[in-house]
Amino acid sequence: MIPALGVFDSGVGGLSVLRAIRAQMPAQPILYFADQGHVPYGPRPMQEVRAFSRAITEFLLERGAKEIVVACNTASAAALRYLRQTFPEVPFVGMEPAVKPAAETTQTGMVGVLATPATFQGELYASVVERFAGGVTLLQDTCPGLVQQIERGELDTPATRAILENSLRPMLERGIDTVVLGCTHYPFVIPLIRQIVGSGVRVIDPAPAVARQTERLLVANGWQASGPERGGAEYFTSGRAENLSSLLPSFLGEEGIVRRVDWVGEKIVLAG
Ligand code: DGL
Repeated sequence: MIPALGVFDSGVGGLSVLRAIRAQMPAQPILYFADQGHVPYGPRPMQEVRAFSRAITEFLLERGAKEIVVACNTASAAALRYLRQTFPEVPFVGMEPAVKPAAETTQTGMVGVLATPATFQGELYASVVERFAGGVTLLQDTCPGLVQQIERGELDTPATRAILENSLRPMLERGIDTVVLGCTHYPFVIPLIRQIVGSGVRVIDPAPAVARQTERLLVANGWQASGPERGGAEYFTSGRAENLSSLLPSFLGEEGIVRRVDWVGEKIVLAG
């Protein structure tokens, strides 16, 4: 049996990463976990997000995942190092805001970064800034409410536009020529972001680079699926299953069966 790839996020955000993974390696079997009972993760304490991430990882490993993609910047900030220490035999791929490619190509030296409060507070972001952002000014914004809008499927409504305008207008006035999407929910509003920032501003979605890194680790472990058959995908949510399954065709470009799970203390169990 070909080992599955486990992918998780607080909600639908990780589907922007999964979309790139499906394009890069369509034959790989997938287990996707959306912790929609707890979304958003961004304003929560790091310790809480770490506990969620551990339980989700255990759930995915129990169901046959061999490699895990933490398709969430917030969970990566809170838990990636802890997960690697706790499950040393498991290869993990995490997310960090793509400050490096932004700093390498900006002409104005002004870069906008959109991410959650927890991501900005984490050591991972501090280390990325220290290593790569020398000589560049980073303008940061947490886009309050944007994750919830995207969870509701409101990708192009006046309320969603207002949140993005509030974040991006002041950055444009200060001369940004690059926007880094440091939250995996945000690639779903790239069309709206482009309308606001115009064609002269580069918008960086890290998902294709993360998909390539995911594939490298699968190949290195001999777990890569090949062949013409599309790999199966199973979806789990701690929120409403119908809600996630209704969003899959537009967010991911494919349909899928979603099963509901419940949190029982710090454990996750299949519902029903
Ligand atoms: N998609 C997530 C991220 O990349 C989490 C958003 C949230 O739940 O606040 O940060």
